[in-house]
Amino acid sequence: MSTNSLFNQIQLEGHQLSNRLVVAPMTRRSATSAGVPTEAMVDYYQAFARGGFSLIITEGIYTDSLFSQTDLNQPGLVNEEQMEGWKKVAAGVHKSDALIIGQLMHGGALSQCSAKTIAPSAVQPKGLRSTEKDGLTGPFPIPKEMSEEDLSDVKKGYVQAALLASKAGFDGVELHSANGYLFDQFLTPHTNLRTDRYGGNTYNRLRFLMEVYTAVKEAVPAKFIVGIRLSESKVNDLRYRWPGGSTAAVEIFTVLKGLHADYLHIAAEGGNWARECLYGDGSSSSGLAKKITGVPIIANGGLHDVQIAESLISSQQADLISIGRAALANPDWPRRIAEGKSPIPFFKELIKPSLTLQHTQAVLEKLAGNSSGNRMVL
Ligand SMILES: Cc1cc2nc3c(=O)[nH]c(=O)nc-3n(C[C@H](O)[C@H](O)[C@H](O)COP(=O)(O)O)c2cc1C
Repeated sequence: MSTNSLFNQIQLEGHQLSNRLVVAPMTRRSATSAGVPTEAMVDYYQAFARGGFSLIITEGIYTDSLFSQTDLNQPGLVNEEQMEGWKKVAAGVHKSDALIIGQLMHGGALSQCSAKTIAPSAVQPKGLRSTEKDGLTGPFPIPKEMSEEDLSDVKKGYVQAALLASKAGFDGVELHSANGYLFDQFLTPHTNLRTDRYGGNTYNRLRFLMEVYTAVKEAVPAKFIVGIRLSESKVNDLRYRWPGGSTAAVEIFTVLKGLHADYLHIAAEGGNWARECLYGDGSSSSGLAKKITGVPIIANGGLHDVQIAESLISSQQADLISIGRAALANPDWPRRIAEGKSPIPFFKELIKPSLTLQHTQAVLEKLAGNSSGNRMVL
């Protein structure tokens, strides 16, 4: 099978990428308790760049010291110390000529570590907090409905975090508007009951994201990439789909077209592209996003299946492919595919979002019987 289309170059906001392969954002909960990236994280991200990925999107990074943090030991970008930690990560990735984008994330109602949360409306989230992660357990609390002041604080947080990302040497940031977190809570009708200009029709439910996007884009230097990630499924509701299927997708992308985002990252959080991104009428969310907005599209979800990944690129349903779990087991996934070597299969114990870098390393060592050929370099 030809894998050529995955290895063609592409331009993204004036940056040359050597192939179409991107590391998907993956929470690692391996920063210090003060949210500062560690040396292990420098090695972890560098391994993907050495392994041939042309673009690495980091784990979700919190954006302010108020309500944005989602996990304990999550890294932040709210002060100079955290920025200095990220500077080392970015420099490590750049040694191998890959780009690095920081995923900026506000957990909204889905924080695993805050007793008090904020969200578009005071609606208790479905599901329970993860028992596998350190932090709080049990039902998510009922969040406080965000006031105008809260909206302004969140926007300021994103702008400041993006400026710190630029200072740290990142090539761009991704606004995390997927998986059930804050911006997705605005987009989702049952978690957004607002009657002001941020609630109601699709445009209003995307308004806050678009305002933050515009504020960030205006603040950062030219050529600094600002993308947006969207998904239908949510961490606390993997079965959720946009009500109306492809009709809803058309509406969403028609609104977002006016934003001219640097890219859209259309994700299948549950890791199954066909189940989460394909509609009954044969269209797909990434394909509709590409056709309607005309901006570069990253597709995600089970796309370590090279045949599907290839077909999405060649049928113009995506420009880039992001790989999550398979990249954890194979930081050198692109090299393996290019050289026709089989990637190491990934196992449940390896890919649980609850696992830290140290746990992942331990599992990989067990799998590899400590042979250095299969090890993720940490
Ligand atoms: C360990 C782990 C942590 C994740 N953390 C994030 C995250 O911080 N931000 C995000 O947008 N998605 C996160 N995801 C979802 C992935 O980006 C991706 O959508 C998902 O793994 C499906 O892609 P895959 O089939 O290539 O693994 C995480 C997934 C895993 C396995």
